[in-house]
Amino acid sequence: MDPSQERLLRSMHAAGVRRMPAPRAGRPAPPQPGPRATPAAAAQRERAVSGSAPGLFAAPRLASLPPVADPEAELAAVAREVEACRACKLCGTRTRAVPGEGATRARIVFVGEGPGADEDRTGRPFVGRAGQLLDDIIVKGMQLQRADVFICNVVKCRPPGNRVPEPDEAEACAGFLDRQLAAIRPAVICALGATAVRRLLRDDRPLGALRGRTWDYRGVPVIATYHPAYLLRNPSAKVQTWQDIRRVMELARKA
Ligand code: URA
Repeated sequence: MDPSQERLLRSMHAAGVRRMPAPRAGRPAPPQPGPRATPAAAAQRERAVSGSAPGLFAAPRLASLPPVADPEAELAAVAREVEACRACKLCGTRTRAVPGEGATRARIVFVGEGPGADEDRTGRPFVGRAGQLLDDIIVKGMQLQRADVFICNVVKCRPPGNRVPEPDEAEACAGFLDRQLAAIRPAVICALGATAVRRLLRDDRPLGALRGRTWDYRGVPVIATYHPAYLLRNPSAKVQTWQDIRRVMELARKA
């Protein structure tokens, strides 16, 4: 085995690929979609090792799919479908659905939990008190404008009394979030709070156990951080959030 094959096998092993199909005798081995020896592949291996979403191993990496031909039209189509959606019980209590908003080609996507009262009234994500804090993070902390990023939620309709979305509600909305992320193909996703982490990474561990590492959603790095509403109640956690946001910026610059 030449050194490059050995490197490839080692990296695939590190990425969790335990067994390769043996090439059939007399035929050239088909090209394998394994990581190449590039810095991006090394980063991907690190993410895969540090922890990919187990439930998403079967889902193709976004970068391996043909890009969505017209991301703006796809996001508009998702928004229309969200507004008409009656797939779960949240449609019965919503005032307005909240599909999400921002740059069609955003490098950074923030994913929150679900609309609150202000969002339900306006149809826009993160416009209440938690939203003002998220704006501060984006504008004062990251030196970006809100319109430079994309902001959306796991569920697109307000859960009554701002309760945590139930699993069937998050699942009913899952296709919308997946399509938004596939259309945008961000460089990095910032998961705000445990509900977003649970949905994107299929990982039920508490947020504190998932912070500080880079995770993976279909080949896109994911950083988990505290939800702005949690920061309003626990301002001392802003220090850790700022560390997470710095990592988000680093990944957005790198990719
Ligand atoms: N909290 C969320 O998770 N999303 C919003 O849009 C507003 C508050």
